[in-house]
Amino acid sequence: MAGAETLLGLDIGTTKVAAVIGGRGPQVRLLGAASVPCSGLRRGIVADVPETTEAVREAVTKAQRMAGVELEAAWVGITGQHIGSLNSRAQIQLPRGKRQVSWAEVERVMAAAVNAVSISPGRQMIHAISRGFTVDDEPRVRNPVGLSAGRLAVETHVITASRNLVENVTKCVEQAGIGVAELVAEPLAAADAVLTDDEEELGVVLVDVGGGTTDLALFLGGSIAFTGAAPVAGNNVTHDLAVALGVTYPTAEQVKLAHGCARAALVPEDEMITLPGEEEERAVSRRFVAEVIEARVEETFRLVAQEMSSVGDRWPPPGGAVLTGGGSLLPSIAGVARDTLGCRTRLGRPRVAAGPMELLESPALATGVGLVYYAQREGESRHAEPRRGFRLLPALGRVISWARELFSS
Ligand SMILES: Nc1ncnc2c1ncn2[C@@H]1O[C@H](COP(=O)(O)OP(=O)(O)OP(=O)(O)O)[C@@H](O)[C@H]1O
Ligand SMILES: [Mg+2]
Repeated sequence: MAGAETLLGLDIGTTKVAAVIGGRGPQVRLLGAASVPCSGLRRGIVADVPETTEAVREAVTKAQRMAGVELEAAWVGITGQHIGSLNSRAQIQLPRGKRQVSWAEVERVMAAAVNAVSISPGRQMIHAISRGFTVDDEPRVRNPVGLSAGRLAVETHVITASRNLVENVTKCVEQAGIGVAELVAEPLAAADAVLTDDEEELGVVLVDVGGGTTDLALFLGGSIAFTGAAPVAGNNVTHDLAVALGVTYPTAEQVKLAHGCARAALVPEDEMITLPGEEEERAVSRRFVAEVIEARVEETFRLVAQEMSSVGDRWPPPGGAVLTGGGSLLPSIAGVARDTLGCRTRLGRPRVAAGPMELLESPALATGVGLVYYAQREGESRHAEPRRGFRLLPALGRVISWARELFSS
């Protein structure tokens, strides 16, 4: 199978590197995937380049073997608290005598919106996404090309990241022998895999509970309105358990995976569990384990709400919260999220049309699967006419590369 027909998504997380390969087509067909444990990252920041490089190499090799293809470049997720976002707006007049919007005006107004944003020297732009155009006085136009107008305005969502941290991720991928096709902010990718168009239209927040960070993406009226992250996630739960039980981190992780519950009240008071790997057999109360977990999970969602407070009265969104990421596998976590965030909550698993289902349907793979969806959609939009229903600017690819030129000078 030709390499050009397939796409590789690479999610370099705090706890694992996931490589997902999908085929282009009317619907994304997933052909291969591999997840390799890796602790080379700390909260989205590369702390160990050789370890991460090795994990990237191993994950890609395994996924390629499963898919029966070899790929030269990957769509690489970027995550962590260094990701920042802001919205900006710009307006242009159409040239005298010209009454119809063309791509030239779309690019000109996007350029003006991006230029209005000041990006400090240590940071780089990852995405410039149009949130909707206003054509004369008509707001919320998705695609203004071909419309008659005198004035064109755009609302954009600009996502930036630390230049050094992005370079480190790029280094790990390149040293593993893989090129970087595009960098994608991870919550955007995960959203592609788990959210529905209806949810995004209504207003919804994606909450990716990973190992090191809980990544957030708020969608309103069908487009991205805010991206952010809370600096706590599943690994903090494990750490708290290790301290509370007086056991090693790996033992605490085993206890969490086998017996964890985020709602202490649901655990019978007299239920005891035996700690694995102890020299002398030791039993602890499962209710106590759940109490420790619940406290940290509650705190995590309080921090999520705090991070979201910057969006003002648009919080909480009517469509509520969708939880994904490995941390969302904790039993009863959705209930705790609902109570703490004050909105309805569901669990989001990645949608897959075909492929090695068991692995791909895990919420821990949401970002990896989402990267393939994202790559597929953006690849299409570069070649095809703008289409209704695209959440991002139809010619996003063009806008990104052109905006890069703008900033590389
Ligand atoms: N069955 C499970 N029950 C509870 N927690 C789980 C389960 N499976 C995985 N986890 C937790 O999920 C976390 C890892 O999730 P994920 O793979 O999404 O993180 P990551 O992408 O590596 O990290 P990050 O997104 O923060 O960079 C770990 O803390 C792990 O303990
Ligand atoms: Mg992750």
